[in-house]
Amino acid sequence: MAKNIYIGEIFKNEEIAQDCFLMSVALHSTFAEPQPGQFVMLRISGISEPFLARPFSIYSFQRETDFCRIDLLYQVVGKGTQILAGLIKGSQVEILGPLGNGFEISQSARNLVLIAGGMGAAPLSFLAEYLDNKVCSGSSKIYFYLGARNSETLIGMDKINNLTCTAVICTDDGSLGEKGLVTQILAQDLKKYAPDQTMIYACGPKPMLKELAKILQGTKFKCQVSLEERMACGVGACLGCAVEVKGKKGMAAYKRVCADGPVFYIDEIAWKKI
Ligand SMILES: Cc1cc2nc3c(=O)[nH]c(=O)nc-3n(C[C@H](O)[C@H](O)[C@H](O)COP(=O)(O)OP(=O)(O)OC[C@H]3O[C@@H](n4cnc5c(N)ncnc54)[C@H](O)[C@@H]3O)c2cc1C
Ligand code: FES
Repeated sequence: MAKNIYIGEIFKNEEIAQDCFLMSVALHSTFAEPQPGQFVMLRISGISEPFLARPFSIYSFQRETDFCRIDLLYQVVGKGTQILAGLIKGSQVEILGPLGNGFEISQSARNLVLIAGGMGAAPLSFLAEYLDNKVCSGSSKIYFYLGARNSETLIGMDKINNLTCTAVICTDDGSLGEKGLVTQILAQDLKKYAPDQTMIYACGPKPMLKELAKILQGTKFKCQVSLEERMACGVGACLGCAVEVKGKKGMAAYKRVCADGPVFYIDEIAWKKI
């Protein structure tokens, strides 16, 4: 389906943790309701460098009386995000979206286990909020494993604190919560969850997702992961974001993260090739 590019106006762009910014953008009220796990392609209006838009997960979405508010969490890692960090209130950005296929929402799982590393907190906080508002009843519970290098780089706590969920905070250096990688802490806890009553959702750096795939290999747990590949078009046209998936009869096959994902079932991905 063709998508329009929306011109958004920034009304907040603040550093909330080390090199990590929260940007709130006002958009026309016709912007479609995003699903958790979907993303937008964002470009700064009026500049030609960087030329290509950059993909960002939707962290929060709100309909106000006569406009929509979209929140993005981003880390400064290169040229594009550095320029973003310098934008002031009133600056304009071009937003294409919502794009991609978001998380499949399990209506039956009793345990909704979310695992986020670093900026993976952005899509998973949106998912946790959605599950808390729309899905969770007395019989299903949210467990949110949130990991970061240290307490200074930990993001997403503000949202988690307002949700009905069990939060497990992990830092690599032990400066907050449990000491260790978020995957290690989840691995220790896995026996608490019955595989047939659990859905796991994950997003984070590739090594974290690879490790999760290893931990879950041979188990009956169902797990959806959101992948973050470099993107050019964001809409399935350039094949720049292809990842290898497990094809039929051991043959290599490829899927586009932007159009076929970014959310995939973890056992679909050929992790050895990533
Ligand atoms: C679906 C999707 C959702 C994303 N959501 C978020 C988000 O919510 N918050 C956030 O901070 N980032 C997110 N990213 C990553 C974000 O798009 C990149 O960090 C951003 O494009 C970097 O732009 P840049 O111009 O600053 O960096 P560049 O100058 O283009 O690159 C700087 C460094 O970052 C690396 N890099 C660039 N793009 C990616 C990528 N997609 N994945 C991993 N490494 C990359 C490069 O290899 C290079 O080392 C998402 C990516 C995808 C595909
Ligand atoms: S970024 Fe162009 S096909 Fe995915």
